[in-house]
Amino acid sequence: MPFQIAVLPGDGIGPEVTEQAVRVLETVGRVYGHTFIFREGIVGGVAIDRYGTPLPASVLEMCRGVHGVLFGAVGGPKWDDLRAAVHPEEAIFGLRKELRLYANLRPIHVYPELAASSPVKDVAGVDILFVRELTGGLYYGKPKRRWETRRGRRAVDTLLYTEREIERVLHTAFELAYHRHRRLILVDKFNALESSRLWREVALELTSEYPEVHLKCLLVDAFAMQLLQRPREFDVVVTENLFGDILTDEAAVLTSSLGMVPSASLGPRRRGRVRRGRISAFGLYEPIHGSAPDIAGQDKANPLGAILSTALLLRHSCGLEREAGAVEQAVALALERGYRTSDIATDDERTVSTTEMGHQVMVSLEEIGERHAWPRSWRISR
Ligand code: IPM
Ligand code: MG
Repeated sequence: MPFQIAVLPGDGIGPEVTEQAVRVLETVGRVYGHTFIFREGIVGGVAIDRYGTPLPASVLEMCRGVHGVLFGAVGGPKWDDLRAAVHPEEAIFGLRKELRLYANLRPIHVYPELAASSPVKDVAGVDILFVRELTGGLYYGKPKRRWETRRGRRAVDTLLYTEREIERVLHTAFELAYHRHRRLILVDKFNALESSRLWREVALELTSEYPEVHLKCLLVDAFAMQLLQRPREFDVVVTENLFGDILTDEAAVLTSSLGMVPSASLGPRRRGRVRRGRISAFGLYEPIHGSAPDIAGQDKANPLGAILSTALLLRHSCGLEREAGAVEQAVALALERGYRTSDIATDDERTVSTTEMGHQVMVSLEEIGERHAWPRSWRISR
């Protein structure tokens, strides 16, 4: 059965990195015998320019009919006017909310070859999975508005969470932790925020359902510090929307660059429990970096975050674990062979373009695919 994939490249470097991600999926299709049908949609600033809205209704409709969505990035200085009626970012907020993508997985994996390019020392072996709540909290809570008073302007955002919203993302985090090293950290600010007290309460209640998983609760300020002091200690980290946004950018520094980190935004499960770390759900997949307007159109951006997002798509929305693993191995192999975009290179390393990096991943993927194609007995005897 062909897999239908919506492709939303967006603004800035979005189109360049998404192009490489699509080509990697095409390579997966060729090597492993799958068909991917890509349907492209316009979102973000380019959609504002063309249609007056960052998320045209037809694009949202298209996304409802596919297996998964590949998303690039949105935004740029052209649309940054604080007083503008519409903002490119509303595209991603709308997709997350409308498609009910409440669980955002952001793996922070330090490749051994890149440990030296991280500004943080001692990061070899770091492997953390962040689970960020994505459709609640300050991003969406009402009231959310700005008004004038006699004593000046005022604005309000609302940090609201329901028990149901907290519980469902915690279940995802507990289950993923169960299939990893069984250590789960809840990050909150319970000494100041009522919503955090509810998060902590619900998490503690759920521990009886997951007796094998060790839960620890940490305050967000303390966690932000420990993440840099002893990042190797963390396994799975779960947190609310805004804390997750901030902490995953911080965590990305460990990997050497924001450009290395993929993400999966998952909706309600298609099948019950998480199996061997795999969730079966509809999802939107995007690198966590933004549109980087300063380097857009120069073939300089790192495509690996976007490429690694296709591995998450294969794993969680297509049920293709072997192929997902192959994409991840292909990225590792390209790095082992010394290929670097400028964001992940040390001073003395040679750098390659976005296109060349993508090409090298595809070359590696074909080699890995050939190994997979050998008869099992032959593989073992070698
Ligand atoms: C992210 C981004 C978005 C967010 C922006 C683009 C609105 O920073 O996905 O982390 O804050 O969620
Ligand atoms: Mg962010």
